Amino acid sequence: MISISEHTDLTQLNSFGVTARGTRLIRFSAANELPSLREKGYFEGDWMILSGGNNILFTQDYAGTLFHPEERHIEVLSREGGSVRIKASAGVEWDDLVELTVANGWWGAENLSLIPGWVGAAPVQNIGAYGAEAKQLIESVDIYLPETGVFRTLDPRECNFGYRESIFKHELKGRAIVTAVTLRFSESPRPELGYGDLLRETEARGGVSLRNIRDAVIAIRRSKLPDPKTTGNAGSFFKNPTVERSRAEKLKAQYPDLPLYPTADPNRQKLAAGWMIERAGWKGRNLGRAGVHDRQALVLINLGGASGQEIIELARAVQHDVEALFGIRIETEVNII
Ligand code: EPU
Repeated sequence: MISISEHTDLTQLNSFGVTARGTRLIRFSAANELPSLREKGYFEGDWMILSGGNNILFTQDYAGTLFHPEERHIEVLSREGGSVRIKASAGVEWDDLVELTVANGWWGAENLSLIPGWVGAAPVQNIGAYGAEAKQLIESVDIYLPETGVFRTLDPRECNFGYRESIFKHELKGRAIVTAVTLRFSESPRPELGYGDLLRETEARGGVSLRNIRDAVIAIRRSKLPDPKTTGNAGSFFKNPTVERSRAEKLKAQYPDLPLYPTADPNRQKLAAGWMIERAGWKGRNLGRAGVHDRQALVLINLGGASGQEIIELARAVQHDVEALFGIRIETEVNII
């Protein structure tokens, strides 16, 4: 089913809860409705996908057409050789999929519990947490390309996944609509408990099981991250920067507590932006109605009634001070409109 509304209030459709309007909002409930929307010319001006609205900041009204995918199917494609392949459509709530896999004893997504957002956004962001990333599970991504009207299935290599990165943020930005994702899970245990307190929190719940890992991840997230249902936010506002190893080592000599992480490239290291923001004095502080979360400085929050402009002004002030102190520019993870 397709429903089209004009000059729509988007306040409820973005997790920051900022007020903005979209010139046109098209809700569609099946991928096979996209060709008819294309024939009617709805992709001719500016357009973008607005799914769960969990990784977006509206600093102004959006003058084009927003497509809101509402298809919510989960299908088990196969179960053989100890692995289970599942296809989920773009509008499925990510955590519903995680819960389903945990309830069935299928391993792979438990560390990604409680990440807000929909399945269609998982490959775009290559969502990740607690040592796991969506790319480890993704077998293929179904897309629609409005320019040509073609449906395609991309394999993971074609998706160019990286840390919070994929082809959908680059070559295919504004050109592809993710309609469904196929993921592969394991029927045999694959615990990944290397991150911080995860092992301890899991053991405190009675030992390593899918359910206990999921519960531990949920508890850790709840202790650090604000619930978008009550406090407007979009998760980490900034990405953790990666720098040349020599640069990281110099910083570490200057700031021995600075957390450093390896990256896929042995010559580069990832720095904890949350730590740098805290060190720059911003944790728990605010500018007007926009604040830096007091338990996780990577997260900017709407203290109530903030505009997108107020939030971006806070982000710029934080970026400025981190750069002044460490000489490193932290980039936003959130999509700024
Ligand atoms: N830290 C601080 N102060 C802070 C925040 C963090 O000192 O205010 C330190 C921590 O003590 C730790 C290090 O920085 O030593 C890393 O912190 P944390 O483990 O909380 O993770 P993060 O790197 O800040 C990333 C993801 C989160 C994900 C966590 C856990 C990004 C941009 N963010 O945060 O993802 O939940 O790791 O895996 O990579 C999200 O993307 O929205 C998100 C919440």
